[in-house]
Amino acid sequence: PVRRREVLHLMNKSLPARVVSLLRDLGRVGDELELPVYAVGGFVRDLLLGNENDDIDVSVEGDGILFAETFAARMGYRVKSHEKFGTAVIVFPDGFKVDVASTRLEYYATPGALPTVERSSLKMDLYRRDFTINTLAIRLSGADFGMLFDYFGAYRDLQEKSIRVLHNLSFVEDPTRVFRAIRFEQRLGFQISRHTENLVKNAVKMGFLDKLGGKRLLNELVAIMKEREPVRAILRMSGLGLLRFIHPEIVLQAENLRVLDEVKKVTTWFDLLYLAETVEVWVVYFLALTTAISDDSFWGACTRLSVSEHYRERLIEMRIHGEQVLEVMERKVARGEDVRPSDIYFWLRGLTTEVLLYIMAKTRRDEVRKFVSLFVTRLRGVTTSITGDDLKRLGLPAGPRYREILDRILTARLNGEAASRDDELRIASGEIAAV
Ligand code: CTP
Repeated sequence: PVRRREVLHLMNKSLPARVVSLLRDLGRVGDELELPVYAVGGFVRDLLLGNENDDIDVSVEGDGILFAETFAARMGYRVKSHEKFGTAVIVFPDGFKVDVASTRLEYYATPGALPTVERSSLKMDLYRRDFTINTLAIRLSGADFGMLFDYFGAYRDLQEKSIRVLHNLSFVEDPTRVFRAIRFEQRLGFQISRHTENLVKNAVKMGFLDKLGGKRLLNELVAIMKEREPVRAILRMSGLGLLRFIHPEIVLQAENLRVLDEVKKVTTWFDLLYLAETVEVWVVYFLALTTAISDDSFWGACTRLSVSEHYRERLIEMRIHGEQVLEVMERKVARGEDVRPSDIYFWLRGLTTEVLLYIMAKTRRDEVRKFVSLFVTRLRGVTTSITGDDLKRLGLPAGPRYREILDRILTARLNGEAASRDDELRIASGEIAAV
């Protein structure tokens, strides 16, 4: 236990006051129950690095559920416990959450027998973690609030900016850690240590990653693509030979790298529009990464990642549709043909935002990029003022002409040929009379 003063200083300097008092409150309830309580993991790592982190993980040497339930009861918060794992989540009225774990292990030696309870120490508990930088703990209970526990050289690794596993079987135990290592490396600007990198290479060579379930692999990829610099992480994955575990045909070459770099730009652009719409950024990166492989292989990659059948079908359909529309637009531009706003609208209206962004990233033509941006920012919000009810009132008999006439009016709107409801009604009457 070291560096208490440094930790207290960092807490007061960088944590919001309410988080500091929350940590104190957690410690007090620990004292009351005579249980040692610690803040652990990513929260401590980020505190020492000066990075913001709102995910507070608490470890209790003893019964974590009892601790969480007592704490929640004292404060009037809600709590969700998972008896089987000895974990609980304390949920604050504003949605803020604290995860609580027990350093206690409970298992059933034989079916129907009473559970065997094993108390594991904080140190044992931390030893099970992925990298040294995630093994720091800060004592919250007792007189030594703020004491840092560093059993595995984490403080030094933070200073040396090094990602290190705790033991040689770490990646065998949990292959997702290979991807986590890359994610932390890129996010924190650290470097995977030489020995750890050799263990990654070994895990790759020995095929341990084949055993990784699709869901878990997908989760890791999604997490990587949600980071600030996914392309660097993808390059790193490529360098370590990891991309082929998604699909053997996925390799980085000039073309998908260019598209990946563009994805970064277009998603940043989209973010800055502050639309009330969220996009699945990972989908855009995934489409870019797989841009050069066949539809069959794309399907294979989605299957490997256990993307649900429903979503897989939707993804492949979107990809095919998107490529077709891209081709149409590029041909028009190449031939110098006139393109009206309504053309753009009807080409793009069936596509998801993820595919629209993918098209923007993929095209080499500025004009096409402008078409899509015009659609996203303006055209797709255009509607007609009149509806089917108006057409009915004008005497249009039921049938497919409703759709046609409304589209005709929408076209006029989009192209600036109808500016008001009256304009629209005039067009509608004309169309109805023309039959
Ligand atoms: N952990 C692990 N092996 C994994 C996943 C997680 O050992 N495959 C451990 C890590 O030590 C981590 C803790 O569980 O500190 C919590 O996991 P998570 O919330 O994913 O990690 P954070 O470090 O909080 O990362 P992030 O900042 O991305 O939330």
